[in-house]
Amino acid sequence: MKHLLKLLDLSTEEIIDILNLADQLKYEQKHGIPHNKLKGMTLGMIFQKSSTRTRVSFETGMYQLGGQALFLSSKDLQIGRGEPVQDTARVLSRYLNGIMIRTFEQSEVEDLAEFGNIPVINGLTDFCHPCQVLADLQTIREYKNKFDGLNFCYIGDGNNMANSLTVGCLKVGMNVSLACPEGYHPDPKVLEFAKDYKNFKLVSDPMEAAADADVLYTDVWASMGQEGEAEKRKVAFKGYQINDDIMRVAKSDAIVQHCLPAHREEEITAKVFEQHAVEIFDEAENRLHAQKAVMVRLMGK
Ligand code: CP
Ligand code: NVA
Repeated sequence: MKHLLKLLDLSTEEIIDILNLADQLKYEQKHGIPHNKLKGMTLGMIFQKSSTRTRVSFETGMYQLGGQALFLSSKDLQIGRGEPVQDTARVLSRYLNGIMIRTFEQSEVEDLAEFGNIPVINGLTDFCHPCQVLADLQTIREYKNKFDGLNFCYIGDGNNMANSLTVGCLKVGMNVSLACPEGYHPDPKVLEFAKDYKNFKLVSDPMEAAADADVLYTDVWASMGQEGEAEKRKVAFKGYQINDDIMRVAKSDAIVQHCLPAHREEEITAKVFEQHAVEIFDEAENRLHAQKAVMVRLMGK
């Protein structure tokens, strides 16, 4: 593995290897066992969109691994004034040991990897959010102790999260049911990947998707960059919500996951959110551990 651009590029073995290392690093961190595996190294973090979790977990993670991280807002970089990503990649490769980028177009991340010669990590694009899903998988395995045969249900927009969750959950052996409204389905490349899996289902009825679920997942109705569509989307997504009715048809020990930030009373009720807050914030914490594992695998000796 040279980069983390999207989960479609990773084998099941590579995903499991990252999760195992993430568990190990989490254990070491909790027990005060130093793991300076990236001593003296620098990660550049380019952000074209807002972030709380991604920024803070990468920056802290790099520090805990003995390295440092630079926050590079695209507003301040020349990239924001039109310097091509191909040139930015070649310049940053001379200074840094790795780049994390959060942006709009997936092609920008792929270009950065192609033109630079250091590892590139996708910190979210409109197409996917692989770091989030590695943390989600780590959390699901912590709670359920397995992947095989678990029923994973996603309700809402067929967005970057739905894309990465579909690929990641299928690759590790879960049954995946998505409920998305017409016109808001996952990316065709993801549906093309999923069509070979008999345990994948895309439906329009949230209750049907949630039946017997072990894991229920949702995300915002309007993602970053779609703020102008928010009102239209409130109409399209009405009913695509994790609420008491959905919880009743899922398994009684189902866990709830949300990548955050959450919009209460839109994709999830405040009640269900608070009832499952421990799981959701364990998931947020695991961003730190999963990303440290990714950085060690990509940048470590
Ligand atoms: N879930 C997630 O990526 O959060 P941020 O947007 O705060 O980084
Ligand atoms: N779908 C959301 C995920 C945020 C972590 C967005 O892209 O804004």
